[in-house]
Amino acid sequence: MRPSRRTLLRGSLAATVAAGGAAAAAATLRNKSPHPDGTPAPLRGATPLPYAEVLSLDLAADDGQRVAALGAAHRACEVVDGGKAAAWLGLGEGVLPPDIVRPQQLRRMPIFAGDVLDPNQSHGDLLLQITATSLRSLQTATEQVLRDLPQWQVRWRVNGARPENRVESGRGLSLNPFHFTEGYGNPATEAATAERATVKAGQGEPSWAVGGSYQVIRIIRLATDFWDRDTVPEQERIIGRRRDGRWLDGTPNTERAVFTTDPHGKITPLDAHVRRATPNPRAPAPMVRRSYNYDRGPDGQGLIFSCFQSDLEKGFEAVQHRLQGEAMAKYTLTTGGGYFFVPPPGDTWLRAIADN
Ligand code: HEM
Repeated sequence: MRPSRRTLLRGSLAATVAAGGAAAAAATLRNKSPHPDGTPAPLRGATPLPYAEVLSLDLAADDGQRVAALGAAHRACEVVDGGKAAAWLGLGEGVLPPDIVRPQQLRRMPIFAGDVLDPNQSHGDLLLQITATSLRSLQTATEQVLRDLPQWQVRWRVNGARPENRVESGRGLSLNPFHFTEGYGNPATEAATAERATVKAGQGEPSWAVGGSYQVIRIIRLATDFWDRDTVPEQERIIGRRRDGRWLDGTPNTERAVFTTDPHGKITPLDAHVRRATPNPRAPAPMVRRSYNYDRGPDGQGLIFSCFQSDLEKGFEAVQHRLQGEAMAKYTLTTGGGYFFVPPPGDTWLRAIADN
């Protein structure tokens, strides 16, 4: 008789406890109950940790090991969830068993206008994101996680940092490779972050997915040399904010500008990034951005753009479509990334899959 997914999952839990000792056992116990505040790991705290390793993995084991392999990835993330590093996983569209009710909008990331997706930097069965307070703890945590996951094979990986990572008026801010401060358009509280980013009951999603979040990664190469040849005022008209976040009409950075008094874009051009992203500043895009800068030396630098939303179509996709034709487009090239679903805290989602 074929073992059920549940038996496989239980077997693998027991094996990890035996092999990993106290730490794994503690993590297994913690997994029994959801995180007390119910917020998925990537959305806890006002600002992301300053260093990140983003890995896309493919299942290297055979199909029967799928649930056990997901269980191992889940536990590996829980174990590094300590003071210096935090990790989480995201499910790719191909990794869920065919008979499970899936997050409705989880699909392979489409190719948007202007994208030149490199297959070696795109998609994947599983996203693993490890974040840390220092490069050293990032390396230690990444090695530790990968050591625990022989069932998974790295498809692509990229690491990044958030220079000048800080919190201002409740928002996490950092400096991007274009020398602009990012993060002002994000919500200022954890509750408002969860409101934009997490799946709610009644949204038509499977119950195991409630409390989870759709994460989009876009590897965006930035033509920094070309950008740096423009004057700062030109750059500010392309973004639609000053480098320090103030709006072009003088509105302070933590408040919302009004575009209705500037219908022809004399102050904030109609094709400026923020104006395309959020044409009505009183109705901010329902997404939360938490990106990192990457630097691959001669292979270029750019943004590991990352955003979370409860609804992919209303969040990322609506904004991405509006950005088509923006003035910034000639300085950017998206070469990779993918769509993933970050399950809610706890292991209810895993049990739902195992019981299926
Ligand atoms: C190509 C690289 C990108 C750069 C350099 C960039 C830069 C910026 C900057 C400097 C701001 C203003 C400060 C802030 O609110 O964070 C901003 C805002 C924003 N960006 Fe981007 N961005 C990029 C890509 C994207 C993409 C791919 C999306 C989504 C599809 C996006 C969505 C937004 C949104 C929603 C806002 C907030 C607008 C508001 O409500 O004020 N950005 N971005």
